[in-house]
Amino acid sequence: MGYPFSYSLIEPFGARIDLDLSRPLSPDEAAGLRALFFTHGIVVFHAQRLSMDDQKRVVSLVGPLLEPSAGYLSPEDGILNTRHLDFHSDLSSTPLPFDAISLHAQDVEGPTTTRFASGLRAYRCLSPALKARIEGLQMLVVQTVADKTKLRYDAPAGPLSLVRPVVMTHRVTGEPLLYCNESATARLGSLDQEASDALRAELFTVLYAPDNIYEHAWTNGDLVLWDNLSLQHARPELEPGRPRLMQRVVAGLKTLREQVPSYDLTPVVSEASY
Ligand SMILES: [Fe+2]
Repeated sequence: MGYPFSYSLIEPFGARIDLDLSRPLSPDEAAGLRALFFTHGIVVFHAQRLSMDDQKRVVSLVGPLLEPSAGYLSPEDGILNTRHLDFHSDLSSTPLPFDAISLHAQDVEGPTTTRFASGLRAYRCLSPALKARIEGLQMLVVQTVADKTKLRYDAPAGPLSLVRPVVMTHRVTGEPLLYCNESATARLGSLDQEASDALRAELFTVLYAPDNIYEHAWTNGDLVLWDNLSLQHARPELEPGRPRLMQRVVAGLKTLREQVPSYDLTPVVSEASY
């Protein structure tokens, strides 16, 4: 399709779009943005100056806005603070993970990055034999707040865990994608530990191959909007005292609290802090 704006493709996936998002988009511009978002999984905009309401308007183009989950992230937010985060998909251990996440860099001092790996692209890269092995396979997903060192094969099922298919059918596009991730997939099907770990490793080799990762280096004014189902994200440890203020708006059907009222991250986070 033709697009009513200029854009360029990002390697190995994504699109950089040249649009001023501080004004409402025309129907054609909105349709173009949506098409690039669902095709590539991530769209990047530079030199924006967006209010919270501006950003909500943009995110609502790709999914239902989750008002209560909008807010600000910084190294002093008291939750994640400066911790490094392994690859994850937000809310993967709930029935309805977020559909889309956007971060708008308001006060960042580089270098600081976010890394993305594509489960959509990874699934397409799997050999037919590997696709056959994971067809219909379920996995136990456990909340570790993106810390893979906390994952255990024999993790107990509980309010912070869920059994779901390794291959997800995208809620909007219907495309199959690899939805296992290194920080939450504790075990695969009923495989014993050795077989489960071996198959996980095989899938992660494809998922986290250098040519399946895009690393975004942040500059003030950037808006990055990504599909939280088809992409996973990670970040290195932040430098204490270095500003990294992000305005965050997400799309999804239900908040964490709506889905699991008893969900309490406190023990997970405090345990992860040493
Ligand atoms: Fe996240």
